[in-house]
Amino acid sequence: MNVLVVGSGGREHAIVRQLAASPQKPRLFACPGNPGTADNATNLDPGPNDAAGLVAFCRSRSIDLVIVGPEDPLIAGLADDLRREGLAVFGPGAMGARLEGDKEFAKEVLASAEVPTAHYHAFSSAESALKHLDKIDLPVVIKACGAAQGKGVAVCATREEAEAHIHTCLRDQAFGQSGLRILMEDCLYGTELSVLVVTDGQDYCLLAPSRDHKRIGEQDQGPNTGGMGAFAPVALPSDLYAEIDTRIVLPILAELRRRDIPYRGVLYVGLMLTAGGPQVLEFNCRFGDPETQVVLPLYRGDFLDLCWTTATGELGRHLQGAHRPEGTGPTGWTGSGLTSWDRHAVVVVGAADGYPGPYAQGRPIELPDANSDGGWIIHAGTRRDDRQLVTCGGRVLGAVGVGPSLDAARQKAYDLLDQVHFEGLTFRRDIARTGEGVRK
Ligand code: AMP
Ligand code: GLY
Repeated sequence: MNVLVVGSGGREHAIVRQLAASPQKPRLFACPGNPGTADNATNLDPGPNDAAGLVAFCRSRSIDLVIVGPEDPLIAGLADDLRREGLAVFGPGAMGARLEGDKEFAKEVLASAEVPTAHYHAFSSAESALKHLDKIDLPVVIKACGAAQGKGVAVCATREEAEAHIHTCLRDQAFGQSGLRILMEDCLYGTELSVLVVTDGQDYCLLAPSRDHKRIGEQDQGPNTGGMGAFAPVALPSDLYAEIDTRIVLPILAELRRRDIPYRGVLYVGLMLTAGGPQVLEFNCRFGDPETQVVLPLYRGDFLDLCWTTATGELGRHLQGAHRPEGTGPTGWTGSGLTSWDRHAVVVVGAADGYPGPYAQGRPIELPDANSDGGWIIHAGTRRDDRQLVTCGGRVLGAVGVGPSLDAARQKAYDLLDQVHFEGLTFRRDIARTGEGVRK
């Protein structure tokens, strides 16, 4: 099988790596990819950056399957464009991707599905948003309605912070179109959980539950980032697995079908586990980053077959037998037999100092010599300058550790990161130690 992965981040490196482990031995291409994907795939760099160019490439190389990694092309309808040309695509069309591209629409879907989420009000004018601030209790969460690279959301403890984020979105238009409408929603308290639902619109399965660490600073201090580290699986109280599946995931998928919104790909459901039960914080229409780096290594099935059957509407075939929890898997978690619950994975992100604000690029990177079975480096913001590997992003790379316990996996990830060197390397030392979330 010939497979094209669209994107250039850590998520895409993790996807390529997992595809390369398939017994089907696929031929892999990444567009544009990064120095990490180059280990297992042919990078198209520079490659086509529009649908017509991608279609022409897919024809010329007999591509069987396209996996679209990032949200922006999905929201723009790339999957629709490719499907119209007869290609099998893993990733939703524009209608499904709107769940991530338009947070107000996501709230409407949640309301019709009767799935718990924070109460909110939406505004397009700073004046009415500021007036609303007079009436509510703080903290309040203010979100750009559109996709903003993980930077559109602010949890505001003070009026000054709230006013500042309203102005950033509506007056300064820092997120362009994406921030011209905002949601102001109640702050939820609890720990967070990322749930990756793979669906072809009919059948679905849940990958290992994972937890991201979104704040830049240890003990969850400072601004939100794209994610500074993650671990999987997250151990939950035993009744929560079934509750998430039947009270959150099932009604959302049923609501998408009711609205005739086709969905073939992964729906990322971001939850806050509150004292009153799980509530939905957000949807993403693609694999989470960095969650993917820890969820995929725990997948027991053939990941290529998962993607292929999802793209072609035959996921049911892949899942046959997977509903039976084998070994240590929890009951009530659809597809739990597909996860190795007795293994653990941790990723610690190595970032450039300054991130999520402005940061330097082009700094030479030194990596450990060899990747071992229990640990490896995932490239995110790296590139090659002649033969030298250099930094080119805020989140530069991730050190992944896998082991029989969370402690072993964490140790492995940090040992690996200790062997990485570039000027300005920063990372959190408390990944997989805390239950990240918002505390009262
Ligand atoms: P989102 O992109 O909507 O997930 O928001 C990014 C992050 O902001 C989440 O992962 C949470 O850490 C935080 N967040 C979003 N909405 C809320 C909320 N209603 N209450 C508390 N924290 C929130
Ligand atoms: N880790 C959160 C995200 O992928 O948006």
